[in-house]
Amino acid sequence: MSDVTNVLKEYSKIVVKAIEENLGTIEPQELQDASMYLTKAGGKMLRPALTLIVADAVGGNKEDAINTAAAFELVHTFSLIHDDIMDDDDMRRGKPSVHKVWDEPTAILAGDTLFSKAFQMIILSKNNGANPANVADALATLADACVKICEGQASDMGFEGNFDVKEEEYSNMIFKKTGALIAAATKAGAIMGGANQEVVDAMYDYGRLIGQAFQIQDDYLDVVSDEESLGKPIGSDIAKGKMTLMVVKALAEAEGSDKERLVEILKDSNSTQDDVDEAIDLFNKYGSIEYAHNLALANVAEAKEVLEILDDSESKQVLVELADFVLERKS
Ligand code: IPE
Ligand code: IPE
Ligand code: MG
Ligand code: MG
Ligand code: MG
Repeated sequence: MSDVTNVLKEYSKIVVKAIEENLGTIEPQELQDASMYLTKAGGKMLRPALTLIVADAVGGNKEDAINTAAAFELVHTFSLIHDDIMDDDDMRRGKPSVHKVWDEPTAILAGDTLFSKAFQMIILSKNNGANPANVADALATLADACVKICEGQASDMGFEGNFDVKEEEYSNMIFKKTGALIAAATKAGAIMGGANQEVVDAMYDYGRLIGQAFQIQDDYLDVVSDEESLGKPIGSDIAKGKMTLMVVKALAEAEGSDKERLVEILKDSNSTQDDVDEAIDLFNKYGSIEYAHNLALANVAEAKEVLEILDDSESKQVLVELADFVLERKS
């Protein structure tokens, strides 16, 4: 296990404890269980760890940022629960999705509960001594990301079956659905750590850049990984005709029968492994996997440059390593 994975595990303990303490009063019990289920299943906890590590890296007090960090994980989990309903995916974090264990109404409510609790948790950090002005800024930062997630998810769904999506539209969509929350998590870490505006803005950029790379890698893993390692279904994007960078690029480059075949596979909602393999062959033929990977690498490199604004510290080094982790991860 890499050092970064161990660091994430350590931060995860703090965040899970804060979440459990704050969600333990939800009634009825079934709603509490559905709301806590994915946290118990265990995710990578990337977003809250980023908040805490940035708070430390800017010279702040990590304690002040714990509730804010947990709030980012809650919003992320809310988005996963609702995303699995939208994408009709049956597995999440290696377990049946919330709407499969319970039902869609319960999953919608569990998501809404987590969403609301997130804001409540940030407000509660005032009682623990956090600076009220920073708390207000963190709330605004989270709210902005929530609006963007909804916009991004709406575009993601709107792009299904649209084979003319341009790379710029794709980039904007992944920034909103994924990059914005990661950017807000790093920005909020800087805010709660008491950083100046220049550093706060830089930390938003760092999160945005690794967040976009993160989604490109997520799209890549959806075609090349396996369900066991990833904990969620493979080939789901192709089955749903999702616009990933690999698809956008291959559709832009391919012509004639290759393009027709790729569109046919994307339109077919019952894609087999052979269809997915055929799509991958077409991605390779038109260089779109390499293209996507190079763009993600460029984002990561830029993210690391942004970190130069920070004084050297152990936490800064972890942020450098986390930027690489986004593309090295297998799950
Ligand atoms: C999955 O996020 C959803 C995307 C934004 C791609 P993660 O890969 O961070 O999911 P968990 O939290 O580790 O389960
Ligand atoms: C995730 O996009 C974006 C959000 C959850 C907001 P995906 O739909 O690609 O995420 P996975 O692959 O289901 O985790
Ligand atoms: Mg989705
Ligand atoms: Mg999904
Ligand atoms: Mg995905």
